[in-house]
Amino acid sequence: MATVLALETSCDESAAAIVRDRTVLASAVASQVEEHARWGGVVPEIASRRHVEALPQLIESVCERSGLRPAEVDAIAATAAPGLVGALLVASVTGRTLARLHGKPFLAVHHLEGHLASVQLGEPLPPGPYLVLLVSGGHTELVRVEGPGRYERLGRSHDDAAGEAFDKVARLLGLGYPGGPAIQAAALAGDPHRFRLPRGRVSRPGGGFFPYDFSFSGLKTAMLRLVRSMETEAAGPAAGHPLPLADLAASFEQAVAEVLVERSCRCALEQGLGTLVLVGGVAANRRLRALLEERCRREGLQWRVAPLAYCTDNAAMIGVAACERLERGLRSAIDLGVAARLPLEQAACLYEAPAPF
Ligand code: KG4
Ligand code: ZN
Repeated sequence: MATVLALETSCDESAAAIVRDRTVLASAVASQVEEHARWGGVVPEIASRRHVEALPQLIESVCERSGLRPAEVDAIAATAAPGLVGALLVASVTGRTLARLHGKPFLAVHHLEGHLASVQLGEPLPPGPYLVLLVSGGHTELVRVEGPGRYERLGRSHDDAAGEAFDKVARLLGLGYPGGPAIQAAALAGDPHRFRLPRGRVSRPGGGFFPYDFSFSGLKTAMLRLVRSMETEAAGPAAGHPLPLADLAASFEQAVAEVLVERSCRCALEQGLGTLVLVGGVAANRRLRALLEERCRREGLQWRVAPLAYCTDNAAMIGVAACERLERGLRSAIDLGVAARLPLEQAACLYEAPAPF
Protein backbone atom coordinates (compact mmCIF):
# COMPACT_ATOMS: atom_id res chain seq x y z
CA MET A 1 0.00 0.00 0.00
CA ALA A 2 1.66 3.21 -1.16
CA THR A 3 1.46 6.62 0.50
CA VAL A 4 1.73 9.60 -1.85
CA LEU A 5 2.03 13.35 -1.34
CA ALA A 6 0.17 14.89 -4.28
CA LEU A 7 0.06 18.48 -5.57
CA GLU A 8 -2.33 20.17 -8.01
CA THR A 9 -2.14 23.69 -9.48
CA SER A 10 -3.38 23.30 -13.06
CA CYS A 11 -6.02 26.04 -12.99
CA ASP A 12 -7.45 28.17 -10.17
CA GLU A 13 -7.32 25.83 -7.16
CA SER A 14 -4.07 25.21 -5.30
CA ALA A 15 -4.23 21.81 -3.63
CA ALA A 16 -2.16 19.30 -1.66
CA ALA A 17 -3.12 15.89 -0.29
CA ILE A 18 -1.63 12.82 1.30
CA VAL A 19 -3.28 9.65 0.08
CA ARG A 20 -2.67 6.05 1.14
CA ASP A 21 -3.93 3.75 -1.59
CA ARG A 22 -7.57 4.96 -2.01
CA THR A 23 -7.84 6.60 1.40
CA VAL A 24 -7.35 10.32 1.92
CA LEU A 25 -5.20 10.96 5.01
CA ALA A 26 -5.39 14.75 4.52
CA SER A 27 -6.52 17.06 1.73
CA ALA A 28 -6.40 20.85 1.47
CA VAL A 29 -7.61 23.17 -1.29
CA ALA A 30 -7.13 26.94 -1.54
CA SER A 31 -9.55 28.36 -4.05
CA GLN A 32 -8.81 31.56 -5.93
CA VAL A 33 -12.33 31.95 -7.33
CA GLU A 34 -13.10 35.15 -5.43
CA GLU A 35 -10.14 36.89 -6.98
CA HIS A 36 -10.87 35.65 -10.52
CA ALA A 37 -14.58 36.44 -10.09
CA ARG A 38 -13.70 40.14 -10.37
CA TRP A 39 -12.54 39.51 -13.94
CA GLY A 40 -15.30 37.04 -14.86
CA GLY A 41 -12.87 34.15 -15.46
CA VAL A 42 -9.43 32.79 -14.67
CA VAL A 43 -6.53 35.23 -15.22
CA PRO A 44 -3.48 32.98 -15.81
CA GLU A 45 -0.88 35.40 -14.41
CA ILE A 46 -2.86 35.86 -11.18
CA ALA A 47 -3.42 32.09 -10.91
CA SER A 48 0.34 31.37 -11.02
CA ARG A 49 1.13 34.02 -8.41
CA ARG A 50 -1.52 32.73 -6.00
CA HIS A 51 -0.30 29.12 -6.40
CA VAL A 52 3.23 30.25 -5.51
CA GLU A 53 1.88 31.90 -2.36
CA ALA A 54 -0.55 29.15 -1.29
CA LEU A 55 1.22 25.85 -1.97
CA PRO A 56 3.83 25.83 0.86
CA GLN A 57 1.15 26.29 3.57
CA LEU A 58 -1.09 23.65 1.99
CA ILE A 59 1.76 21.12 2.01
CA GLU A 60 2.56 21.99 5.62
CA SER A 61 -1.11 21.60 6.57
CA VAL A 62 -1.58 18.13 5.03
CA CYS A 63 1.72 16.97 6.56
CA GLU A 64 0.65 18.14 10.01
CA ARG A 65 -2.83 16.65 9.76
CA SER A 66 -1.63 13.27 8.49
CA GLY A 67 1.32 13.19 10.88
CA LEU A 68 3.64 12.45 7.96
CA ARG A 69 6.62 14.39 6.61
CA PRO A 70 7.64 14.36 2.91
CA ALA A 71 10.55 12.10 3.94
CA GLU A 72 8.03 9.49 5.16
CA VAL A 73 5.86 9.08 2.06
CA ASP A 74 6.59 6.60 -0.76
CA ALA A 75 6.35 9.05 -3.65
CA ILE A 76 5.61 12.64 -4.64
CA ALA A 77 3.10 13.42 -7.39
CA ALA A 78 2.11 16.58 -9.25
CA THR A 79 -0.22 17.38 -12.14
CA ALA A 80 1.83 17.96 -15.31
CA ALA A 81 -0.84 18.39 -18.02
CA PRO A 82 -3.17 19.71 -19.33
CA GLY A 83 -3.72 23.18 -17.89
CA LEU A 84 -2.28 26.69 -17.69
CA VAL A 85 1.48 26.33 -18.17
CA GLY A 86 2.53 28.95 -15.59
CA ALA A 87 0.13 27.42 -13.07
CA LEU A 88 1.16 23.79 -13.72
CA LEU A 89 4.82 24.71 -13.24
CA VAL A 90 4.26 25.61 -9.58
CA ALA A 91 3.19 22.11 -8.47
CA SER A 92 5.59 20.46 -10.90
CA VAL A 93 8.74 22.22 -9.71
CA THR A 94 7.70 21.92 -6.06
CA GLY A 95 6.97 18.19 -6.44
CA ARG A 96 10.15 17.44 -8.33
CA THR A 97 12.24 19.39 -5.81
CA LEU A 98 10.73 17.51 -2.85
CA ALA A 99 11.21 14.19 -4.67
CA ARG A 100 14.84 14.97 -5.45
CA LEU A 101 15.66 16.21 -1.96
CA HIS A 102 14.07 13.25 -0.21
CA GLY A 103 15.17 10.60 -2.72
CA LYS A 104 11.56 9.67 -3.60
CA PRO A 105 10.06 8.64 -6.93
CA PHE A 106 8.27 11.46 -8.77
CA LEU A 107 5.00 10.84 -10.61
CA ALA A 108 3.60 13.35 -13.06
CA VAL A 109 -0.16 12.96 -13.36
CA HIS A 110 -2.54 13.77 -16.22
CA HIS A 111 -5.22 16.06 -14.77
CA LEU A 112 -8.07 14.13 -16.42
CA GLU A 113 -6.69 10.82 -15.17
CA GLY A 114 -6.96 12.45 -11.75
CA HIS A 115 -10.63 13.28 -12.33
CA LEU A 116 -11.22 9.70 -13.50
CA ALA A 117 -9.53 8.40 -10.34
CA SER A 118 -11.70 10.63 -8.10
CA VAL A 119 -14.56 8.13 -8.26
CA GLN A 120 -12.38 5.61 -6.41
CA LEU A 121 -12.58 7.86 -3.35
CA GLY A 122 -16.22 6.77 -3.06
CA GLU A 123 -17.85 3.36 -3.29
CA PRO A 124 -15.82 0.62 -5.03
CA LEU A 125 -16.46 0.20 -8.76
CA PRO A 126 -18.06 -2.96 -10.13
CA PRO A 127 -15.62 -5.14 -12.12
CA GLY A 128 -15.20 -4.82 -15.88
CA PRO A 129 -14.84 -1.96 -18.34
CA TYR A 130 -16.99 1.11 -17.72
CA LEU A 131 -17.94 4.42 -19.29
CA VAL A 132 -16.93 7.74 -17.72
CA LEU A 133 -18.73 11.01 -18.35
CA LEU A 134 -16.07 13.60 -17.54
CA VAL A 135 -17.51 17.09 -17.30
CA SER A 136 -15.31 19.97 -16.15
CA GLY A 137 -14.52 23.58 -17.01
CA GLY A 138 -12.23 22.54 -19.85
CA HIS A 139 -13.50 19.11 -20.95
CA THR A 140 -16.66 17.18 -21.79
CA GLU A 141 -15.72 13.65 -22.73
CA LEU A 142 -17.11 10.14 -22.77
CA VAL A 143 -14.25 7.76 -22.02
CA ARG A 144 -14.32 3.98 -22.11
CA VAL A 145 -12.03 2.68 -19.35
CA GLU A 146 -10.79 -0.82 -19.99
CA GLY A 147 -8.49 -0.92 -16.97
CA PRO A 148 -5.89 1.31 -15.28
CA GLY A 149 -4.37 3.62 -17.90
CA ARG A 150 -6.36 2.07 -20.79
CA TYR A 151 -8.68 4.70 -22.20
CA GLU A 152 -10.63 5.21 -25.39
CA ARG A 153 -12.51 8.44 -26.03
CA LEU A 154 -15.97 7.70 -27.46
CA GLY A 155 -17.47 11.19 -27.33
CA ARG A 156 -16.58 14.84 -26.81
CA SER A 157 -17.84 18.39 -27.09
CA HIS A 158 -17.17 20.10 -30.39
CA ASP A 159 -17.24 23.59 -28.86
CA ASP A 160 -17.59 24.65 -25.21
CA ALA A 161 -17.07 22.24 -22.34
CA ALA A 162 -20.15 21.80 -20.12
CA GLY A 163 -18.57 23.80 -17.28
CA GLU A 164 -17.58 26.55 -19.69
CA ALA A 165 -21.21 26.78 -20.85
CA PHE A 166 -22.31 27.14 -17.21
CA ASP A 167 -19.70 29.86 -16.68
CA LYS A 168 -20.65 31.82 -19.83
CA VAL A 169 -24.41 31.61 -19.25
CA ALA A 170 -23.95 32.65 -15.61
CA ARG A 171 -22.07 35.72 -16.83
CA LEU A 172 -24.90 36.46 -19.28
CA LEU A 173 -27.42 36.24 -16.43
CA GLY A 174 -25.20 38.38 -14.20
CA LEU A 175 -24.80 35.52 -11.70
CA GLY A 176 -21.02 35.68 -11.26
CA TYR A 177 -18.11 33.24 -11.47
CA PRO A 178 -17.80 30.25 -11.25
CA GLY A 179 -21.06 29.79 -13.07
CA GLY A 180 -21.95 26.22 -12.11
CA PRO A 181 -22.64 26.74 -8.40
CA ALA A 182 -24.25 30.15 -9.14
CA ILE A 183 -26.67 28.68 -11.72
CA GLN A 184 -27.43 25.74 -9.44
CA ALA A 185 -28.32 28.11 -6.58
CA ALA A 186 -30.46 30.36 -8.81
CA ALA A 187 -32.20 27.33 -10.37
CA LEU A 188 -33.39 25.91 -7.04
CA ALA A 189 -36.59 27.97 -7.09
CA GLY A 190 -37.05 27.81 -10.86
CA ASP A 191 -39.22 25.88 -13.33
CA PRO A 192 -36.88 23.69 -15.45
CA HIS A 193 -39.53 23.30 -18.16
CA ARG A 194 -40.56 26.94 -18.62
CA PHE A 195 -38.29 27.63 -21.59
CA ARG A 196 -37.74 25.25 -24.51
CA LEU A 197 -34.04 25.21 -25.26
CA PRO A 198 -32.13 23.30 -27.98
CA ARG A 199 -30.37 19.99 -27.23
CA GLY A 200 -27.39 20.58 -29.57
CA ARG A 201 -26.30 17.75 -31.83
CA VAL A 202 -23.21 17.49 -34.00
CA SER A 203 -23.74 16.73 -37.70
CA ARG A 204 -21.62 14.12 -39.42
CA PRO A 205 -20.10 15.32 -42.71
CA GLY A 206 -21.73 12.44 -44.65
CA GLY A 207 -25.15 12.94 -43.03
CA GLY A 208 -26.71 12.09 -39.66
CA PHE A 209 -25.19 12.93 -36.29
CA PHE A 210 -22.28 11.86 -34.11
CA PRO A 211 -24.30 9.92 -31.53
CA TYR A 212 -22.03 10.49 -28.52
CA ASP A 213 -20.78 14.03 -29.17
CA PHE A 214 -21.94 17.31 -27.66
CA SER A 215 -22.36 20.92 -28.71
CA PHE A 216 -23.31 23.69 -26.31
CA SER A 217 -22.88 26.72 -28.58
CA GLY A 218 -26.49 26.61 -29.88
CA LEU A 219 -27.81 26.44 -26.33
CA LYS A 220 -25.64 29.39 -25.33
CA THR A 221 -26.91 31.43 -28.31
CA ALA A 222 -30.52 30.49 -27.51
CA MET A 223 -30.02 31.75 -23.95
CA LEU A 224 -28.52 34.98 -25.27
CA ARG A 225 -31.47 35.55 -27.65
CA LEU A 226 -33.98 34.78 -24.91
CA VAL A 227 -32.37 37.22 -22.50
CA ARG A 228 -32.00 39.95 -25.15
CA SER A 229 -35.65 39.62 -26.24
CA MET A 230 -36.81 39.83 -22.63
CA GLU A 231 -34.64 42.88 -22.05
CA THR A 232 -36.15 44.54 -25.11
CA GLU A 233 -39.66 43.74 -23.87
CA ALA A 234 -38.76 45.02 -20.43
CA ALA A 235 -37.69 48.32 -21.96
CA GLY A 236 -41.17 48.57 -23.54
CA PRO A 237 -44.62 48.34 -21.95
CA ALA A 238 -43.54 46.00 -19.13
CA ALA A 239 -40.67 48.32 -18.14
CA GLY A 240 -38.94 47.49 -14.89
CA HIS A 241 -39.89 43.81 -15.11
CA PRO A 242 -36.92 41.78 -13.83
CA LEU A 243 -35.58 38.76 -15.75
CA PRO A 244 -37.05 35.43 -14.52
CA LEU A 245 -33.58 34.35 -13.40
CA ALA A 246 -34.66 31.22 -11.52
CA ASP A 247 -36.63 29.83 -14.50
CA LEU A 248 -33.86 30.74 -16.95
CA ALA A 249 -31.20 29.08 -14.77
CA ALA A 250 -33.34 25.98 -14.14
CA SER A 251 -34.25 25.56 -17.84
CA PHE A 252 -30.60 25.90 -18.87
CA GLU A 253 -29.42 23.47 -16.19
CA GLN A 254 -32.10 20.98 -17.24
CA ALA A 255 -31.08 21.22 -20.92
CA VAL A 256 -27.40 20.57 -20.13
CA ALA A 257 -28.12 17.74 -17.68
CA GLU A 258 -30.62 16.02 -20.01
CA VAL A 259 -28.30 16.04 -23.00
CA LEU A 260 -25.35 14.75 -20.94
CA VAL A 261 -27.38 11.95 -19.39
CA GLU A 262 -29.19 11.02 -22.59
CA ARG A 263 -26.04 10.65 -24.66
CA SER A 264 -23.92 8.93 -22.04
CA CYS A 265 -26.60 6.34 -21.20
CA ARG A 266 -27.10 5.65 -24.88
CA CYS A 267 -23.34 5.25 -25.34
CA ALA A 268 -23.05 2.88 -22.35
CA LEU A 269 -25.96 0.73 -23.55
CA GLU A 270 -24.89 0.59 -27.21
CA GLN A 271 -21.27 -0.12 -26.31
CA GLY A 272 -22.21 -2.88 -23.86
CA LEU A 273 -20.79 -1.07 -20.83
CA GLY A 274 -22.78 -1.86 -17.71
CA THR A 275 -21.49 0.96 -15.49
CA LEU A 276 -21.63 4.73 -15.98
CA VAL A 277 -19.31 6.94 -13.91
CA LEU A 278 -19.71 10.69 -13.46
CA VAL A 279 -16.68 12.87 -12.58
CA GLY A 280 -15.36 16.46 -12.92
CA GLY A 281 -16.43 19.85 -11.57
CA VAL A 282 -19.86 19.75 -13.24
CA ALA A 283 -20.48 16.35 -11.58
CA ALA A 284 -21.13 18.43 -8.45
CA ASN A 285 -24.38 19.57 -10.05
CA ARG A 286 -27.37 18.20 -8.12
CA ARG A 287 -29.76 18.10 -11.07
CA LEU A 288 -27.22 16.23 -13.20
CA ARG A 289 -26.53 13.71 -10.40
CA ALA A 290 -30.25 13.13 -9.84
CA LEU A 291 -31.09 12.74 -13.56
CA LEU A 292 -28.18 10.36 -14.09
CA GLU A 293 -29.22 8.19 -11.16
CA GLU A 294 -32.86 8.10 -12.27
CA ARG A 295 -32.00 7.24 -15.87
CA CYS A 296 -29.43 4.57 -14.98
CA ARG A 297 -31.90 2.94 -12.63
CA ARG A 298 -34.50 2.88 -15.41
CA GLU A 299 -32.05 1.49 -18.00
CA GLY A 300 -30.60 -1.16 -15.69
CA LEU A 301 -27.15 0.45 -15.65
CA GLN A 302 -24.93 0.63 -12.58
CA TRP A 303 -23.68 4.11 -11.78
CA ARG A 304 -21.04 5.75 -9.62
CA VAL A 305 -20.59 9.46 -8.99
CA ALA A 306 -17.40 11.03 -7.58
CA PRO A 307 -17.90 12.15 -3.94
CA LEU A 308 -19.04 15.79 -3.89
CA ALA A 309 -15.86 16.97 -2.16
CA TYR A 310 -13.70 15.52 -4.94
CA CYS A 311 -15.62 16.65 -8.06
CA THR A 312 -13.96 20.05 -8.46
CA ASP A 313 -10.17 20.25 -8.64
CA ASN A 314 -8.30 18.73 -5.69
CA ALA A 315 -5.05 16.89 -5.04
CA ALA A 316 -6.53 13.73 -3.49
CA MET A 317 -7.65 12.56 -6.94
CA ILE A 318 -4.13 13.22 -8.25
CA GLY A 319 -2.77 11.08 -5.39
CA VAL A 320 -5.08 8.16 -6.24
CA ALA A 321 -4.09 8.29 -9.92
CA ALA A 322 -0.41 8.38 -8.87
CA CYS A 323 -0.88 5.36 -6.54
CA GLU A 324 -2.27 3.38 -9.47
CA ARG A 325 0.71 4.21 -11.67
CA LEU A 326 3.17 3.59 -8.82
CA GLU A 327 1.66 0.14 -8.15
CA ARG A 328 2.40 -0.71 -11.77
CA GLY A 329 6.07 0.18 -11.25
CA LEU A 330 5.87 3.47 -13.14
CA ARG A 331 7.56 6.78 -12.35
CA SER A 332 8.32 9.98 -14.24
CA ALA A 333 11.62 11.54 -15.26
CA ILE A 334 12.77 14.14 -12.73
CA ASP A 335 13.36 16.65 -15.54
CA LEU A 336 9.85 16.27 -17.01
CA GLY A 337 8.22 19.61 -17.83
CA VAL A 338 4.55 20.50 -18.18
CA ALA A 339 2.20 20.72 -21.18
CA ALA A 340 -0.84 22.91 -21.81
CA ARG A 341 -2.43 20.17 -23.90
CA LEU A 342 -2.15 16.40 -23.77
CA PRO A 343 -4.94 14.00 -24.75
CA LEU A 344 -5.88 11.54 -22.02
CA GLU A 345 -5.05 8.61 -24.31
CA GLN A 346 -1.43 9.83 -24.26
CA ALA A 347 -1.17 9.97 -20.45
CA ALA A 348 1.31 7.05 -20.48
CA CYS A 349 3.96 9.30 -22.08
CA LEU A 350 4.35 11.00 -18.67
CA TYR A 351 6.18 7.84 -17.52
CA GLU A 352 8.54 7.52 -20.46
CA ALA A 353 12.28 8.05 -20.36
CA PRO A 354 13.64 10.30 -21.70
CA ALA A 355 10.99 12.86 -20.72
CA PRO A 356 8.67 13.68 -23.66
CA PHE A 357 8.72 17.44 -22.83
O1 KG4 B 1 -13.05 20.12 -12.64
P1 KG4 B 1 -13.04 21.56 -12.35
O2 KG4 B 1 -12.92 22.00 -10.92
O3 KG4 B 1 -11.90 22.29 -13.13
C1 KG4 B 1 -11.50 21.92 -14.40
O4 KG4 B 1 -10.73 20.94 -14.54
O5 KG4 B 1 -12.00 22.60 -15.34
O6 KG4 B 1 -14.39 22.15 -12.99
C2 KG4 B 1 -14.73 23.49 -12.88
C3 KG4 B 1 -16.05 23.69 -13.58
C4 KG4 B 1 -16.46 25.16 -13.69
O7 KG4 B 1 -16.83 25.44 -15.02
C5 KG4 B 1 -17.66 25.26 -12.76
O8 KG4 B 1 -18.62 26.23 -13.17
C6 KG4 B 1 -18.22 23.86 -12.82
O9 KG4 B 1 -17.10 23.02 -12.88
N1 KG4 B 1 -19.03 23.52 -11.64
C7 KG4 B 1 -20.35 23.24 -11.70
C8 KG4 B 1 -20.77 23.05 -10.36
N2 KG4 B 1 -19.67 23.20 -9.53
C9 KG4 B 1 -18.63 23.48 -10.36
N3 KG4 B 1 -21.20 23.17 -12.74
C10 KG4 B 1 -22.49 22.90 -12.47
N4 KG4 B 1 -22.97 22.72 -11.22
C11 KG4 B 1 -22.15 22.79 -10.14
N5 KG4 B 1 -22.64 22.61 -8.91
ZN1 ZN C 1 -10.29 19.68 -13.30
